[in-house]
Amino acid sequence: MDINDIKTVCVVGAGNMGHQIATLCAIHGFKTVCTDISDEQLQKAEAFVDKYLPGRVEKEKLTAEQAKQARENISFTNSLEEACKEADYVIEAAVEVLDIKRKVFADMDKFAPPHAILATNSSFIVSSKIADATNRPDKVINLHFFNPALVMKLVEVVQGPHVSDETRQISMDLCTKISKVPVHLKKEVDGFLLNRIFAVIGKEANWLLEMGVASFEDIDNACVFGAGHPMGPFRLNDLTGLDLSYTIGMENFRNTGDRADLPGPSLVEHYLKGEFGQKTGKGWYDYTKK
Ligand SMILES: NC(=O)c1ccc[n+]([C@@H]2O[C@H](COP(=O)([O-])OP(=O)(O)OC[C@H]3O[C@@H](n4cnc5c(N)ncnc54)[C@H](O)[C@@H]3O)[C@@H](O)[C@H]2O)c1
Repeated sequence: MDINDIKTVCVVGAGNMGHQIATLCAIHGFKTVCTDISDEQLQKAEAFVDKYLPGRVEKEKLTAEQAKQARENISFTNSLEEACKEADYVIEAAVEVLDIKRKVFADMDKFAPPHAILATNSSFIVSSKIADATNRPDKVINLHFFNPALVMKLVEVVQGPHVSDETRQISMDLCTKISKVPVHLKKEVDGFLLNRIFAVIGKEANWLLEMGVASFEDIDNACVFGAGHPMGPFRLNDLTGLDLSYTIGMENFRNTGDRADLPGPSLVEHYLKGEFGQKTGKGWYDYTKK
């Protein structure tokens, strides 16, 4: 099998990441089925597509014909079975909880054709923790997109010891076909490449905040105006989700026992109030105000 055999993509999870990954695949010519357990999320995702595609035509990034084709390519369903049944490549972008991912992968394995590759967009769960929930471990891989997936070029393709070279090659080729820049991780490592690097910056930024050295706004300003980052770590955190950072911090602590890995008190405070960032209207910054 090679990339030319991949015609239909299924995206599982229509949240922050999933709806954009699905839109991207549809724009690049794949028949794309997006699925979620939440009808509300599916409606939001469909409304996004209906607004985004005409917007791209207005900005002359797509022709009207390309937008029409992309719209025809994408469909939405709350049935995982329906979504997977014709898929050649499945990208899972459901919540970052290992038990849920293992259950979703077992179901994907049941419903998708035997040749289909099953990828996870997980931020830190390596696919070897999921692969044995399926009967095709050689076809289970990490395909890690960045947020916002329609904009960010990088995709990390992580080849665990169970992953075949064919699966890795098709995954790299798929990324290229949807205009992304894939990087190949030859070994599994928690956090992969870029998030490990960002974690160091994030940890230091949180320490500076918790020690009262500077406000989060000023720490962000230092990174933007001093280091030329497109946004500071707190603004970025609002984009990626404070709930995700909380989960990752807790999971890291469980793995290492190192208290330095625990989410900081300010992050925990926002988390407990349900302030997860842009998606809830409030996180470090308040998006409900103009
Ligand atoms: N947010 C980011 O910046 C970012 C970046 C890269 C990777 N990721 C990873 O992508 C994945 C999704 O993150 P997100 O930010 O889009 O989360 P999100 O909370 O915005 O969306 C998750 C979606 O999964 C759905 N879902 C939950 N259980 C499901 C199931 N059993 N079947 C189908 N759908 C289910 C939820 O209804 C929700 O719509 C996570 O693994 C995360 O680690 C996130």
